Amino acid sequence: MPEHVAVIMDGNGRWAMQRGLPRTAGHKVGVDAARELVKSCRKRGISYLTLFAFSSENWRRPAEEVRVLLDLLGSSLENETRLLDENDIRLMVIGDVPRFPKLLQRSIEKTCRRTRNNRSMTLTIALNYGGQWDILNACRSIAESIQDGEIAVSEVTRNLVESRLCTRDLPDPDLFIRTGGEIRISNFLLWQLAYTELYFTDTYWPDFDIDCFERALKVFADRQRRFGNVEQQIEECA
Ligand code: IPE
Ligand code: IPE
Ligand code: MG
Repeated sequence: MPEHVAVIMDGNGRWAMQRGLPRTAGHKVGVDAARELVKSCRKRGISYLTLFAFSSENWRRPAEEVRVLLDLLGSSLENETRLLDENDIRLMVIGDVPRFPKLLQRSIEKTCRRTRNNRSMTLTIALNYGGQWDILNACRSIAESIQDGEIAVSEVTRNLVESRLCTRDLPDPDLFIRTGGEIRISNFLLWQLAYTELYFTDTYWPDFDIDCFERALKVFADRQRRFGNVEQQIEECA
């Protein structure tokens, strides 16, 4: 079982268009799929689930779609807090949140605060997140520390970089899932996915149900993670 699952929930728009509906209808049904996955992970004892809900590039979409997406994010935060609390799930948000409308920022802050002592699972939503943004921030923060004389260049290690990324409180993902048929990372967790097992499915996000998730978990269970070692070394350790 993976400890941390990270998901690019893609294909909402195409799911809707296929049904003759506006793209935003797909986003609405997509919220239900996300809720089911959260419950499913909690039930299976998966400690970390990270969902890509809005990328730093998604601002490029038509203004009306962006508006609906932000509204949906706000209402989902309001509506789902109780479910998170009842299931002892802590909510975290990663991304450039100050760019969002004040009201949405407040909902994010409120939900995170209310659930911060929950321990059974951490649900992280990536909002206005970009992997390059994350790495760039870490670089700037390290450069400032060097400039201020707090650290020496020789102290810049992998651990130090990781401590400046906004995922500093999360282990790296074990399993990455992208729905919707595209075989790309789309600026999600670039640093953190270095040794993650990647799983791509053509299923559109609103159709991604428990059976689909189980299939992904099965594929993950059958993979051998070698982290640079050879097969024999892994077998000797097992
Ligand atoms: C993913 O579905 C949701 C977000 C990016 C917010 P899309 O809206 O990208 O759906 P497709 O890829 O256009 O079908
Ligand atoms: C990635 O999906 C972002 C989210 C799911 C939030 P996109 O649909 O925006 O990705 P591209 O544009 O197809 O790469
Ligand atoms: Mg898409």
